[in-house]
Amino acid sequence: MHDMTATQSLLPRPRTPRFEALHRRFPTSAYLRARAPRNVPRFAFEYGDTGAGDDVGIAHNWAALDAVKVVPRYGVMPSLPPVECELFGRRYAAPIGIAPMGGPSLVWPGADLLMARAAQAARVPFTLGVAGGATIEEVAKVAPEVFWLQLYRFAHNDHKIGFDLVRRAQEADVKVLVLTLDVPVRTTRSRESYAGLGGEFRPTPRMITEMLARPKWLLALLRHGYPRFATVRQYAGENPTTNETIRFARREMGGAFSWEEVARYRERWRGPMMVKGILHPADAEQAVSLGIDGVWVSNHGGRQIEALVPPIDVLPAIAAAVGKRATIIFDSGIRSGQDVMRALALGADAGFAGKSFLWAVAAVGDDGPAYLIDLYIDELRASLGQIGARSPAAARESLVRHPGRMEFPEA
Ligand SMILES: Cc1cc2nc3c(=O)[nH]c(=O)nc-3n(C[C@H](O)[C@H](O)[C@H](O)COP(=O)(O)O)c2cc1C
Repeated sequence: MHDMTATQSLLPRPRTPRFEALHRRFPTSAYLRARAPRNVPRFAFEYGDTGAGDDVGIAHNWAALDAVKVVPRYGVMPSLPPVECELFGRRYAAPIGIAPMGGPSLVWPGADLLMARAAQAARVPFTLGVAGGATIEEVAKVAPEVFWLQLYRFAHNDHKIGFDLVRRAQEADVKVLVLTLDVPVRTTRSRESYAGLGGEFRPTPRMITEMLARPKWLLALLRHGYPRFATVRQYAGENPTTNETIRFARREMGGAFSWEEVARYRERWRGPMMVKGILHPADAEQAVSLGIDGVWVSNHGGRQIEALVPPIDVLPAIAAAVGKRATIIFDSGIRSGQDVMRALALGADAGFAGKSFLWAVAAVGDDGPAYLIDLYIDELRASLGQIGARSPAAARESLVRHPGRMEFPEA
């Protein structure tokens, strides 16, 4: 018998045709990250990879996940477990999803749609960022069964744009609506600013040189253009330029939703709804008391300020508070299926990832997102099999050492 490594595992569905070849080149997401800067202009990589300040928040998210250790049980499972799951009453191939992002198309032109298509093919959730590079209507066409939508706050004229986005989401049959609460301010991400980005897109001579040195990226740019704030563009006037749209979106979009506003969106949206960026069990309770169906535990991947607690360390307290009444999504720091397993063991219903999907698309191009989904699913199956969990939900029964776990005083 030959030695069966975890990644040769027997997924019961077709994987990306190039899986084996890509797996030899990129056996983990770290290899994708290492390759990414060689394929895209420096400013594009820096935008997708940076955190706030000096990236300390990212380092802490990673370290906090790395510190979570699980005690395995053996002799209970002769084969790897299935990883299908149900989220908000719908079946998905795995408790793994793509987190909303504002500028995937900046990292790789057309990336939003590449990720949406890959998620649909694999049947895992894709969350479109309202600031992203594809419209609600475009994503509805390519990812009809796995389409989640994230909204920022567009409050002018009594939420005229915000409520119109809800209407469009409803018409597009979006499966889950996500309101992001954790951006009360627009903070500085130093690597992004240093690379020449922030605000309008005005390529400096250095940025132009970087673009010319990356022919595949340039080709993708020629194919897809430079769509920023695609969903919001139609509110910015007659045929606005990219920079007019960016200026408009920056003027209109901002501030964090108040609970009173969350309640108003809850009233309008007919379907499952989540709040994203929750780090305190009392906030999770508040959301659930307003009829919110899911809580997304996240510190925005370390992109807001560095001093925020790593979400994995507050996940158990939030799960204990609302886990029976709400679906819990975890993100911030996931770089493997093993990290997803850690989050499941600590109370999440699914783990989503942001940055690593950008590394994948930058490193591999069009097939990148599909490859990373398959890699994460394989790694998750292997991790669950290794600890003796019969299903994603069964991971919660494991004994876990979690040095960073936070206890909260009773509210
Ligand atoms: C380039 C980039 C843009 C992002 N834009 C948004 C956004 O527009 N809305 C939002 O709710 N979260 C946004 N996020 C945060 C992600 O949804 C997610 O919380 C985070 O990336 C998870 O951490 P990870 O990158 O370590 O996987 C963004 C993240 C990245 C990397």
